[in-house]
Amino acid sequence: MEIIQRSTEFLEAKGVETPRLQTELLLAHLLQLPRMQLYLNFERTLTTTEVARFRDYIKRRVRREPVQHIVGSTSFCGLEITTNRQVLVPRPETELLAEAGWKFLGQLSKRDPYSPAAMDFGTGSGCLAIALAANCSAARIYAGDISPEALEVARQNAGRHLLTERIEFMAGDGFAAVPVGMRFDLIISNPPYIPTAEIGGLQPEVRDYDPPCALDGGPDGLDFFRRLAVEARPFLKAGGKIMLEFGDGQAGGIWEIFERQKWVVDAVEKDYTQRPRILIAHG
Ligand SMILES: C[S@@+](CC[C@H](N)C(=O)[O-])C[C@H]1O[C@@H](n2cnc3c(N)ncnc32)[C@H](O)[C@@H]1O
Repeated sequence: MEIIQRSTEFLEAKGVETPRLQTELLLAHLLQLPRMQLYLNFERTLTTTEVARFRDYIKRRVRREPVQHIVGSTSFCGLEITTNRQVLVPRPETELLAEAGWKFLGQLSKRDPYSPAAMDFGTGSGCLAIALAANCSAARIYAGDISPEALEVARQNAGRHLLTERIEFMAGDGFAAVPVGMRFDLIISNPPYIPTAEIGGLQPEVRDYDPPCALDGGPDGLDFFRRLAVEARPFLKAGGKIMLEFGDGQAGGIWEIFERQKWVVDAVEKDYTQRPRILIAHG
């Protein structure tokens, strides 16, 4: 299709990364086709309405709106997750955190009969909570966020995957949202971890479209880790674990923060590019 070529060149000229992929994703969304099928419809001419809608998508992408917001969703651990400006777009590396989480819950649930409980601290779109619930049918998940707007999106996503009965959403600042006396087998979180001064230099797709409260980790990016290291322990059951995603280059600082608070670090896992990105520890 000529439109693929022209739009790719246009996006490239405007400095959008991976312009052909972006064009294909938008066109596949417009035509409601899997991307790979676009080329089977190579000779298909777009209607005037389709051309107008596609131009609008391309204009939005040139303004650096993330493709996930334009198409309205993204895939996370094979689950379709609605995204909009109220929530961080789920990232591929966070899938590794989800997998570590559901494997741990899966082991616990083998203790017969046991229904492990997990808390997702800062749930955003709900992607982690939903992936845990979807992959460990015995687990009960509690998902908190300070943003009521994000929780609304997370609730919709849980509904989309028929998991509302096993995920409880909690509004509030960190552990203040947790009902008194509640304890978890797993506390999992991908907290905000960008140093405040670095936010202005991020890609426009992130800087201008992810919510600031999903990014800002304080002066050195580690504020939430300090908080979690101090506050999380009373909310963990004996034998429970904390699993946290952190930014590239933060492993040393985070290890130190947790050891200072007498946590035992079980593992630091790497992402797809072999950079350390996940802390697993117990109290
Ligand atoms: C980096 S995003 C992660 C979202 C989602 N868990 C993911 O992995 O895609 C961090 C989330 O923490 C939430 N958050 C920020 N400050 C918080 C606080 N004090 N208490 C609870 N949640 C908070 C933000 O609203 C945001 O949704």
